Amino acid sequence: MQVNLRESWWIRDVEIPTRLVLAPMAGVSVQAFRRQGRRFGAGLVCSEMVSCAGLEHHNERTLGYLRVGGDEHPLAIQVFGSDPALMAEAARMVEAAGADLVDVNFGCPVRKVTKTGAGATLLDDPDRACRIVEAMAEAVAIPVTVKLRRGCDDGSRTCLDVGPRLVAAGAASLTLHPRSAKQMYTGEADHSLTAELVDLVDVPVVASGDITSRARAQAVLATTGAAGVMVGRGAQGNPWALREIVDGEGSQPSREEVAAELILFIRETVRELGERRASGFLKKFYGWYLGRGRFPRPFKQELVQLESPDDVVTRLFAAAPRAAEIVERLEAELPDPEDEILLDQMPISIYGGG
Ligand SMILES: Cc1cc2nc3c(=O)[nH]c(=O)nc-3n(C[C@H](O)[C@H](O)[C@H](O)COP(=O)(O)O)c2cc1C
Repeated sequence: MQVNLRESWWIRDVEIPTRLVLAPMAGVSVQAFRRQGRRFGAGLVCSEMVSCAGLEHHNERTLGYLRVGGDEHPLAIQVFGSDPALMAEAARMVEAAGADLVDVNFGCPVRKVTKTGAGATLLDDPDRACRIVEAMAEAVAIPVTVKLRRGCDDGSRTCLDVGPRLVAAGAASLTLHPRSAKQMYTGEADHSLTAELVDLVDVPVVASGDITSRARAQAVLATTGAAGVMVGRGAQGNPWALREIVDGEGSQPSREEVAAELILFIRETVRELGERRASGFLKKFYGWYLGRGRFPRPFKQELVQLESPDDVVTRLFAAAPRAAEIVERLEAELPDPEDEILLDQMPISIYGGG
């Protein structure tokens, strides 16, 4: 069955223009990643998970995650934590920052997060999970959405009990990554559970996990009845995969296009994170962009060794001189940085963050 991924759908009164959602990924989903995702066909983009404790303490780095670009809408900002009152306050800050949706993380399997009672552990404490969603939904007018795993242990079906309860508590949409927390990223996402969840709730469900091709996206949409599919790892250094999934345009990018996208990504990330933080953050992206046979392996290794992001940009221009025209065009389309943050809503200290 052919499914049109260019169809729009709604989370309450928020229109999502395509059925493709870009996954929240810690250490990946910076603004440049989300913007690029929108350009390549994602109908909804999401920040990485943001600590409600960090927001509460006005931690400068945490507040930086609340930057919203004019061209990112619709955008979800994801928060994590275990205290309903703090999560409600975090939701208020997310709303004030201009996000269209506030998403709650009930899926993170990483010990640093679960040991604080947040992330996937909340699937084993559904009363608390519901209190969190309820408090957030009461605190804000924007929809509260939830991203969850199937449960904590292998084979768990907890999501089918907890999901409908979260909807009753006020969740306007659910995203299911049907692996257990214990599995981390091993094995396969079992989307038969996604289909079961769709049957149990009357809000849109998004299917996350192992969507890497148009055929897979269409099959998952058709067999589960999900409103959308989410793409995570498949989009790392590969925005062209998003275009292929949405439109079926499967042509491989030229070297110039790859270099241009990477150069823009580097420049925007330096602006967002500052040069020092960006230079370590960006290294993994060099491999992601330049792999897949697009550039010779030694070239990738050379870039990782370079001192600064500026040096990497210079080297990329040298390797693909015609990338300059593409970069110029892409940069001309960026919104004015002045329009990016609701200035009166944010503590003054975050402007220093680059
Ligand atoms: C590096 C990395 C970081 C992630 N960070 C988050 C996160 O902050 N919040 C979240 O809900 N899921 C996070 N995830 C899970 C993804 O959103 C997604 O559900 C998962 O990777 C499965 O989709 P995929 O097979 O398309 O990658 C992360 C995944 C990866 C690989």
